[in-house]
Amino acid sequence: MSQLLAPFHSVTIQDFESSWTSPANIAFVKYWGKKSHQIPANPSLSMTLSECTTTTKTKFQAANGLTVRLKLNGKSEEKFATKIKDYLESLQDELPWILNLSVEIETSNTFPHGAGIASSASGLSAFALTLTEYLTHLKSDTEETLFYKRASYLSRLASGSACRSVYGGFTSWGDSALPESSDLFATSLKVHPKLAALRDTVLVISSEEKTISSRSGHGRMNEHFFAEARYSQARDNFSRCISALQRGEMDDVGMILEAEALALHAMMLTSPEPYTLLKPNTLSAINAIWDFRKETNLPLYFTLDAGPNLHLIYPESQKNKITTFISHELAPLTENIIHDKTGIGPKKC
Ligand code: PMV
Repeated sequence: MSQLLAPFHSVTIQDFESSWTSPANIAFVKYWGKKSHQIPANPSLSMTLSECTTTTKTKFQAANGLTVRLKLNGKSEEKFATKIKDYLESLQDELPWILNLSVEIETSNTFPHGAGIASSASGLSAFALTLTEYLTHLKSDTEETLFYKRASYLSRLASGSACRSVYGGFTSWGDSALPESSDLFATSLKVHPKLAALRDTVLVISSEEKTISSRSGHGRMNEHFFAEARYSQARDNFSRCISALQRGEMDDVGMILEAEALALHAMMLTSPEPYTLLKPNTLSAINAIWDFRKETNLPLYFTLDAGPNLHLIYPESQKNKITTFISHELAPLTENIIHDKTGIGPKKC
């Protein structure tokens, strides 16, 4: 049993209500491939966003058996309620009383579904934060650092990348040479002040539902011919990216960012059952970004999640010339554009 949850193994259930707003994050070094119990195959690191958030209000009450009701933007969502119920059931060894709870959730996102921003990271970290606060309501624990560690641990069990959303700025997750690093929860990462405020402009190339889920993509890494090479590349990119972030070298960070995005999609293209989530306009935009960089030397770089939509990362200080290029050259390739930046992390509301 985890030390983080051990104090809450036997408690008396009380009614409680809590609300948290939690942001999405964008991975600079990708988590793609896992062992059992949401243990990542390699360390990853991400930037927490500011504008793309989920706000979740949860009401916990004593009941006979576990029931979960969930409304997304005011509408009942059976699929998400089942996902949360399965998640809570998966915690029963550590928190046996969880099987006697009625859970009512009201949740809403600031960004549209299919916008290339993982709503699972913001949504499940927001829910995990309400659950963490409930635990401390049932049995007080005054250590604030433990609160966030526990919230990250609980977020990870709901959706791996969600564990990186509980801190602002930059976050890393997974065993590494960093002090305090762990496969079980994320930790905050200090970066050079020059890179502490970056912009993330999301080009929504397509908002269609993904044909292959991330869960299935992670699964395909198990039998992947290149799996070990990929994990070793990710570990290497992880330490190089941290070093570049701490030295304040945007161009070094940017080169790793793009290599990671392309490696992620190369894994999909070369998996035992190959597939791609890229669209023709994703590639047109990538070529336009490379041409722009060659012509101007400006530090504009891209990354991709498991989808066709590009996240454009650049320093706040260069925003004028870069946003002009984006609106003239890249906007015609998109359905929509979302402007975001480095955020300060979740907040209780
Ligand atoms: O947390 P999951 O299971 O949705 O996987 C996230 C995978 C990527 O977004 C592609 C990479 C990452 O590290 O966030």
